[in-house]
Amino acid sequence: MIDEDLIILGLETSCDETAASVVRRKSQGKGEIISNIVRTQRAEHAKFGGVVPEIAARAHTEAIDKIIQTALSEANIDFKDLSGVAVTAGPGLIGGLLVGMMTAKAIALVHQIPFIAVNHLCAHALTVGLTNNLAPPYMLLLVSGGHTQLQWVKDIDDYTRLGSTIDDALGEAFDKTAKLLGLGFPGGPEVEKWAEKGDPHRFDLPRPLKGKPEANFSFSGLKTALRQQAEKLTPLNNKDISDLCASFQYALIDNLMERIEKACPKVKQLAPANSKPNFVVAGGVAANKPLREALSDFADQHEMTLTIPPANLCTDNAAMIAWAGAEYLSRGISHPLDYTAKSRWPLDQKAPALIGGGKAGVKA
Ligand code: KG4
Ligand code: ZN
Repeated sequence: MIDEDLIILGLETSCDETAASVVRRKSQGKGEIISNIVRTQRAEHAKFGGVVPEIAARAHTEAIDKIIQTALSEANIDFKDLSGVAVTAGPGLIGGLLVGMMTAKAIALVHQIPFIAVNHLCAHALTVGLTNNLAPPYMLLLVSGGHTQLQWVKDIDDYTRLGSTIDDALGEAFDKTAKLLGLGFPGGPEVEKWAEKGDPHRFDLPRPLKGKPEANFSFSGLKTALRQQAEKLTPLNNKDISDLCASFQYALIDNLMERIEKACPKVKQLAPANSKPNFVVAGGVAANKPLREALSDFADQHEMTLTIPPANLCTDNAAMIAWAGAEYLSRGISHPLDYTAKSRWPLDQKAPALIGGGKAGVKA
């Protein structure tokens, strides 16, 4: 263990956010964000209804130097003040990952500081250490545009998969539904907004995998059922769109809760004896209010303590990368400069690959 304060620069370029952040980790393990700069490429990708890898990589190249300069100047520090540089090394879009990796390696080499290669999913998983000073063990639900998985986080580098999607990610299901209904991108916030005025019981949508013993997820059948309902009603009026969004969101959340419940017996076994297990949620979909409410009820019912980082640290950012880097470096872990980027990099290396679980080349 390194017994001193660490100041880490984090870089994130795995998908469509170019981000840099400076984070301090105090010797006792408390974290503090000193600067946190995120430049989203949303506008560049919006007209394609999804992220275009080539455009993403070029946009990272154009933006990254300036973003780093801003992060350092807002933190009022120079490269020489850094204890190390951390970067997302995977999973994600390879072109973007290479931009971040090469930049971080150059900084590490020129300034002779440790280089830390961070797993983006691991960074999402550890964010509660930064925001809530919460350390493993805990159950993690990661719900983003590219991933939907349930993990038991025993330590910062020790993960056991409890469940995963077998097709679409939860955010992807929101995005595809929004696209189908002619709403904006990213679709999650749009669907949530339209759903507020809608009737969640107008359409009876399926609950994929209901009753199955493993805590896996599937959302593609729900999305198809919604498309069929929408096609029957075309042309859609505003009431139809609201009701479709509300019914979809209701079914999705109901389905998700039924699936997560299947992991509870295992969590009770894995959690320290006589303790109330911690339940942590991360990823962009955790910004969804009805989902947050459902998760809060779920945690109460199952005697778990729920922790969700603030919405801006649930979506992609570099503070979480810097923090994960700081956690590693505090244990004396850093990486060689010939470390390679990985488009696929599951948290639980022992778990067999599931179709759709931890997919390569998608938002993480
Ligand atoms: O974590 P994130 O910013 O990027 C990664 O995928 O890593 O998550 C983005 C995803 C998108 O699919 C977006 O539609 C979804 O999170 N999302 C939401 C909401 N805000 C963002 N989904 C549902 N409701 C929301 N309010
Ligand atoms: Zn992410």
